Amino acid sequence: MKTIFSGIQPSGTLTLGNYLGAMKHFVDLQEENNCYFCIVDEHAITVPQERLKLRENIKSLAALYIASGIDPKKSILFIQSEVPAHTQLGWILQSISYIGELERMTQFKDKSNGKEAVSSALLTYPPPLMAADILLYKTDIVPVGDDQKQHLELTRDLAQRFNNRYNDIFTIPEIRVPKVGARIMSLQEPTKKMSKSDENLKASILMLDTDKQIEKKIKSAVTDSDGIVKFDKTNKPGISNLLTIHASCTGESVEDLERKYDGKGYGEFKQETANAVMATLRPIREKYEELMASDELDRLLDEGAEKANFVANKMLAKAKKAIGLGRVKKKR
Ligand code: AQP
Repeated sequence: MKTIFSGIQPSGTLTLGNYLGAMKHFVDLQEENNCYFCIVDEHAITVPQERLKLRENIKSLAALYIASGIDPKKSILFIQSEVPAHTQLGWILQSISYIGELERMTQFKDKSNGKEAVSSALLTYPPPLMAADILLYKTDIVPVGDDQKQHLELTRDLAQRFNNRYNDIFTIPEIRVPKVGARIMSLQEPTKKMSKSDENLKASILMLDTDKQIEKKIKSAVTDSDGIVKFDKTNKPGISNLLTIHASCTGESVEDLERKYDGKGYGEFKQETANAVMATLRPIREKYEELMASDELDRLLDEGAEKANFVANKMLAKAKKAIGLGRVKKKR
């Protein structure tokens, strides 16, 4: 049995990219592993968030995890800010991180690019805080989309640096990215990843979009004019993205889909891709609505926080001891 950790930011309604790249795979993993799934609200505040909206997004993300199949009896589902050990270990790991290595993170460069006021936390959450999230639970595997590869590599470096410098306490985690769907692209700029904070509302399919919205967005997805349904990321990024989405939703291979739509126009391919997405998201949306109307979520999150605090505090104590923080209390 392995230990699995993954987190998602409550920075807006999740996209189909978040689902196909990450959440969808959590459900199978929980059957045979010891899983922790986290709502990383402290990551979300590295860019400005509106107070009430953030609260709503946290609850909504909890409901989406469960509606997608996370079973709180099998997995530990919790909110990061309700387990203070995350920021405490994050600080310790910040003290062994170098500014240069943090500044090299592509996501930091993308998110800070062109902005006048960039919070220092945007620089120091991936990875010091993200590394803390992962290392507190002796995580073996981190299932994520491929935009997180660089962060995971640095997380591994930090764990190794700490183990070499102080004491060998951290498990070195492995990344796991899905074979298909590791990077779902924007429907309007298919060379850019689909993101929940994209200002262009037609660019991302949200997990709570209605069937009508999904259909409309897929039909207006940017493609090309040669009319051939073929996977070619460089020359046909729009069609390649739709093929990936279709394959991830139905479980068919991209090659089978190319054969199926050979000689058929983009109209039919787009309609059937929209049908596949609608069939994937509809049951999740229905379960989500039931959960949001019940009191069950609060109880489940309380239980998750209690279990996560218990495990995390033990690892935090080991890290503090290894680095020499606080006192050694004499036994009376
Ligand atoms: N487009 C994507 N394709 C595949 N996987 C994706 N993930 C994100 N976008 C895609 C994966 O979803 C998980 C949660 O991501 P996150 O919310 O913690 O942060 P993010 O990667 O920054 O996601 P967004 O949607 O782009 O959020 P914002 O706009 O707030 O920055 C991760 O496993 C990620 O790999």
